[in-house]
Amino acid sequence: MSPVPKPHESVEPLVASLPTPADLPDYARKTLEAIAPGFKLTDDRLREITHSFLHDFELGLSKYGEPMAMIPTYVTGVPNGKETGTFLALDLGGTNLRVCEVKLLGNHKFELRQQKYKVSDTLKTGEAVALFNYMADSVDAFLTERASIDPNQQNEDLLLGFTFSFPVEQTALARGELLTWTKGFSAKNAVGHDVGQLLQDAFDRRHMHVKCVAIVNDTVGTLMTRAYTGGDCLLGSIFGTGTNGAYVEDISRIPKLAGHPAVANGGKMVINCEWGAFNNTAGLRTVLPSTPFDNKLDRESINVRKQAFEKFISGMYQGEILRNILLTLVDHQPPILFKGESSATLNKHYGLDTAVMSDVENAQTLADVRTAVSAGLGLPLESVSDLDAWIVRWAAEMVATRAAKLSGAAVAAILVQTRHARLQGYGDPAEPIKTPGVMHVGVDGSMVEFYPHFEERLRSALRALVGEEAEKATKIGMAKDGSGVGAALCALQAMKQLTA
Ligand code: BGC
Repeated sequence: MSPVPKPHESVEPLVASLPTPADLPDYARKTLEAIAPGFKLTDDRLREITHSFLHDFELGLSKYGEPMAMIPTYVTGVPNGKETGTFLALDLGGTNLRVCEVKLLGNHKFELRQQKYKVSDTLKTGEAVALFNYMADSVDAFLTERASIDPNQQNEDLLLGFTFSFPVEQTALARGELLTWTKGFSAKNAVGHDVGQLLQDAFDRRHMHVKCVAIVNDTVGTLMTRAYTGGDCLLGSIFGTGTNGAYVEDISRIPKLAGHPAVANGGKMVINCEWGAFNNTAGLRTVLPSTPFDNKLDRESINVRKQAFEKFISGMYQGEILRNILLTLVDHQPPILFKGESSATLNKHYGLDTAVMSDVENAQTLADVRTAVSAGLGLPLESVSDLDAWIVRWAAEMVATRAAKLSGAAVAAILVQTRHARLQGYGDPAEPIKTPGVMHVGVDGSMVEFYPHFEERLRSALRALVGEEAEKATKIGMAKDGSGVGAALCALQAMKQLTA
């Protein structure tokens, strides 16, 4: 194990938690010190971002067509844990497609059978009809091979909740048009189409006795699942390949729904924020601190100037931001990293997986960091010096800390929007703050589940934004299997509406 180098005072502003190597050459130190401020988020900047978030919430709740879509889901309440029934769930949203059979037991518990199916790049980027056919085929295969229910033994159609984790402008629980693809999907002839109908058509072409009764965003599924298993939930959020949040809003505060027959009786509705699109209008009101590394990522992406917030914080993009930084350091004259040597992983667009950053940050000693860097970047161990290892760790920590703090701003915005907390430094809100009690936030996704220090960093931002009392009252809990269970709970709600 190589010894951890001694601290070096002059590089204090750099963030890496391992002491700075004393032998960091001057030109390297200066370059790192020039990069670091671009990633720094002061408390004031975070407050400004959260304030801007709240502004975009208002806009999205008032009008259709806003970048932060604030989508009414037609889900009018959260479960209490007593719900029962068996439903199918289909979940498309990231790397895999999942088909599940969910049995809600009515005592806050559930049983789940599931099967994952790979979604190839060809399916993600080909014709939508092929993607939806593949989904129907997967449900068919699941019913034959895994499910306990036999569709041929049933008199009625099996009810399915469709967790489709992309921005869908819903017009009813089971109806909604895809606004845009995100997370690397670009299948043709889907945007502008009703995705519930596309799926149903695929089932019908196969004469399957399955009825899609609800389209569910994964954040909504997370919110519903957390409420079902834990009894209460204020926000369901995903910090994974993509990012987003869903919360319960008073219908009276959703002006764009005024006059809609579905809300004649007032009450509450779950809103899918689509917060990944926050600050899409960059250039007009840029509040996110874009660095040249972010700009490069955006320019080279398949959705330029879209999902602006998501590109700062989600798992799909963080590895790519890091790759952009590392390549700049490799190409620097004189080289700052790996003596100017690159690797196939470093040279490939999206070649650096965010999981590598996670390994680098998880390593406890500089020797372990070296091993993680060498394995993750595909470089021989002897090409990675202690100094290289330290610099990669420094950069990973910087990118991931910014991501987690921005995630904290999104959570804070919901606490303020729902009048559970006050944004520090912005005066008293018009309405009184509810006595906090415990505020439950259900979360899911690879960043929050696996990335080291993610919650701790998110919380440090939350404290700066809403104060220590509200931060402490916020209980963040994983809602495992949220997509499947949430889809089942929405299918149940749809069934009740159908039979009412
Ligand atoms: C999608 C959201 C989704 C989030 C997390 C985003 O890219 O637009 O609908 O909830 O990813 O999966």
